[in-house]
Amino acid sequence: MTLALIGGTGLSRMPGLVIENADANAGANAVVTEWGESAAPVLQGRLNGLPVLFLARHGNPHRLLPHQVNYRANIAALKQAGASAIIAVNAVGGISAEAASGVMVLPDQIIDYTWGRDMTFFDQGQTPVVHVDFSWPFDAALRERLAVVLARSGMPWLNGGCYAATQGPRLETAAEVLRLERDGCDIVGMTGMPEAVLARELELPYAMLSLVVNPAAGKSEREITMAEIEAVLHHGMDSVCRVLAETCADMLRQ
Ligand code: HPA
Repeated sequence: MTLALIGGTGLSRMPGLVIENADANAGANAVVTEWGESAAPVLQGRLNGLPVLFLARHGNPHRLLPHQVNYRANIAALKQAGASAIIAVNAVGGISAEAASGVMVLPDQIIDYTWGRDMTFFDQGQTPVVHVDFSWPFDAALRERLAVVLARSGMPWLNGGCYAATQGPRLETAAEVLRLERDGCDIVGMTGMPEAVLARELELPYAMLSLVVNPAAGKSEREITMAEIEAVLHHGMDSVCRVLAETCADMLRQ
């Protein structure tokens, strides 16, 4: 098992990762794939003893907006490097009342509101055409592993929920968030799609660990500021990293 971790906003480096391909770490060399270059080098190492790959989704330092990320290259680079499963971390806005700032969410569904992104590996004229099953977008076994760690962590978390993937880079209007809520969405972010489906197309089990960093638009009296988001991110990503490290330790034991 080689677990790949994708770090999002607030997680461009993985604390505790003992890097074994130091050359990739030193250089800015992205991985060249058939689909273009990954956002950053794929770091190979160990986290709590478990072989782990780490990729900064937006580059390191963070430079790519959600719609500028080459999701196909990122997922292909992880596959090429030998990933057998992916846990993706992302920062989100909270829509449902339980999804308060600082809460970690293990979504079990996703709705795609993005547009214009390269969202399939299967548009190269393949015959027969491929339509992957995506009824359950997240891998049940990986989610369960994370759920076990979250349950014993004592930290606030939610088991399940629907992630709305919006286009960004702007935040939503209050009316858009009301629509997402009517659609059944609990959290909103900008990077879950097409990342999740591309992993499915390459048969990589994929789960998401989302950190709520602000009430979504219209869900609080205040304006949403980057300062507010960063304050929650700073502390919240420490919790996310603890969960990831514990999950690695569990995986090594079993
Ligand atoms: N909306 C969309 N994406 C986000 C948000 C939000 O409120 N917060 C963090 N990522």
